[in-house]
Amino acid sequence: MTTPAMEATGVTVAYGATTVLRDLNLRVARGEIYALLGGNGAGKSTTLNAFLGFLAPQTGSVRVCGIDVAADPLAARGQLAYVPENVALYEHLSARENIDYFLRLAGSDRTGATMDATIDDALRAVRLDPAAWTRRLGGYSKGMRQKVAIALAVARQVPLLLLDEPTTGLDPQATSEFNTLLQDLRARGSAIFMVTHDLLGAAEVADRIGFLERGHISHEVAASGAEHYDVRDLYRRYAGATNAAARPEAA
Ligand SMILES: Nc1ncnc2c1ncn2[C@@H]1O[C@H](COP(=O)(O)OP(=O)(O)OP(=O)(O)O)[C@@H](O)[C@H]1O
Ligand SMILES: [Mg+2]
Repeated sequence: MTTPAMEATGVTVAYGATTVLRDLNLRVARGEIYALLGGNGAGKSTTLNAFLGFLAPQTGSVRVCGIDVAADPLAARGQLAYVPENVALYEHLSARENIDYFLRLAGSDRTGATMDATIDDALRAVRLDPAAWTRRLGGYSKGMRQKVAIALAVARQVPLLLLDEPTTGLDPQATSEFNTLLQDLRARGSAIFMVTHDLLGAAEVADRIGFLERGHISHEVAASGAEHYDVRDLYRRYAGATNAAARPEAA
């Protein structure tokens, strides 16, 4: 069996006396799109932070492409790209300049024409309008910024992409373009793990949807071929998860 792109086994995370994740088990295969849903405060960002190595679980293990995040956080982070809800890139630089800068920061030794070709290929892959490539990010919309952040992931050729609420604040057109982009990335072999409140968007693109409730995955559903999901069933489960999140002590 190939190593999963990401895997959490028996993970517990507590902030002081408050346990947020308890016995979390999660596995995302290479080339799979996984959407994690859960109410506010359910622990979705905490889960991302554990995979990013920003916090150390009290128990259990977190692995990225087989690398134990606690043992080697830098190597683990080298395998993934993280796109936060509000993308942080340089406003006074263009899309091309931002990618060039961050690729060098990530240790790329590409130069000249090779670097240019890498950047152009990535920007084409995310379908950013070529007219915008050399414009400063200061004038970009949220959807355009997100494309630049994802283009950086494409250029780095990392096998795993982590996204926190990627479609919040995108209009329907941008959301639909974004979903197409995720499918393109999957076709390139990337695994994608996204935290979202957009149930319908998740049902459109994800191979599996997990519901985070009371600190662990309470339900996990898989898209079966072209049939996709029973959306009414998903709504019922999601409403259940959000209600439970509002009552963290509920058994
Ligand atoms: N650094 C921290 N210190 C203490 N408590 C924290 C910290 N970070 C998160 N929490 C608490 O942990 C719980 C889970 O937070 P988290 O941010 O993971 O939720 P979330 O599912 O991402 O929510 P949202 O949908 O609002 O983004 C919340 O009760 C939150 O208040
Ligand atoms: Mg969050």
